[in-house]
Amino acid sequence: MRSERKLDHIRHALNHSEGPVHYFDEVDIVHRSLAKLDWEQLDISVQLGELNVSSPLFVNAMTGGGGEKTKEINRKLAEIAGEKNIAMAVGSQMAAIKDKEERKTYEVVREVNPDGIIFANVGSEATWEEAEVAIEMLRADALQIHLNTVQEVVMPEGDRDFSFRIENIRRVISESPVPVIVKEVGFGMSGETVKELQELGCRYVDVGGKGGTNFSKVENERRDNSMDSFHSWGIPTPVSILHSLEAEHIIASGGIRSGVDGAKALVLGAKAFGMAGPLLKTLMEDGEPALRGKIDLIHHELKSVMMILGCETVEQLKGKPYILHGETKNWISQKGV
Ligand code: FNR
Repeated sequence: MRSERKLDHIRHALNHSEGPVHYFDEVDIVHRSLAKLDWEQLDISVQLGELNVSSPLFVNAMTGGGGEKTKEINRKLAEIAGEKNIAMAVGSQMAAIKDKEERKTYEVVREVNPDGIIFANVGSEATWEEAEVAIEMLRADALQIHLNTVQEVVMPEGDRDFSFRIENIRRVISESPVPVIVKEVGFGMSGETVKELQELGCRYVDVGGKGGTNFSKVENERRDNSMDSFHSWGIPTPVSILHSLEAEHIIASGGIRSGVDGAKALVLGAKAFGMAGPLLKTLMEDGEPALRGKIDLIHHELKSVMMILGCETVEQLKGKPYILHGETKNWISQKGV
């Protein structure tokens, strides 16, 4: 039942990895004409808090549970992430914490990518004891805790009791030996949420904003009585980055489609950017060579922006001048948090 749901998610998510509005098109970086660096000087490695990563791009959380098929997807993603030296998050390990049979889906990620940076993933319903199992299952370098309230409430079988989750998050952050990233799944974080998370000791947020994979649509498409009134819910990713600037380490995701979008996220203040739906879509529809090519292209695009703006390191992109348009500009001018 659960594994069917996971495969369903993948099928539907592939149709919804592109939002109706591409919010990163509403952010223009101000162009510079006079290039002064040598391509060889461009360094895309990043110090993300305690994590030293060779690229700001990472494969964000996707497949969990689902048996042989999702294990195969995870194996391919992990092989390519290892080869391209980018970090990778696995999908929710909640099922595997409870059922040892499910663990193979995740363990394969560490088997094929023994030295890579891997993020474990649990929901905020996880106790510290459960989160610890998730970290150990992968010998993970960091742990993601996903916040998916919208997805749960639009699902008839979704969770309804969130009253114990704040305490869970606080405990997991205080006990975890590895960095804990609290992430949204496509609805974005407000400045208010970021402040609440900081009070719980959270140092890393993945804003997981609106504009890419839409879990309201993914969940609703799987049933007849759909709650499509939530389809436009959420905070666009560029807005969410700008509203999160108080966070110590900001990670951007949700609707990032290219290295140029990734560079825009870094200009706005993120230190790294994750991609989920578009990478999965490329792998499933066009195969492994296409995914390798896409990652190379994203890196080339990112370095091109660095060259144009005269930034030798990724960190130097932060704060470069930009112009906002459309809905994104409305959000920022009205400070809707
Ligand atoms: C996801 N995402 C996700 N996130 C998470 O924290 N745990 C999970 O188990 C999953 N599962 C999952 C399955 C599939 C098929 C997709 C496409 C996505 C959410 C993902 O990590 C990301 O936050 C959103 O998809 C937004 O990013 P993109 O897809 O717009 O790049």
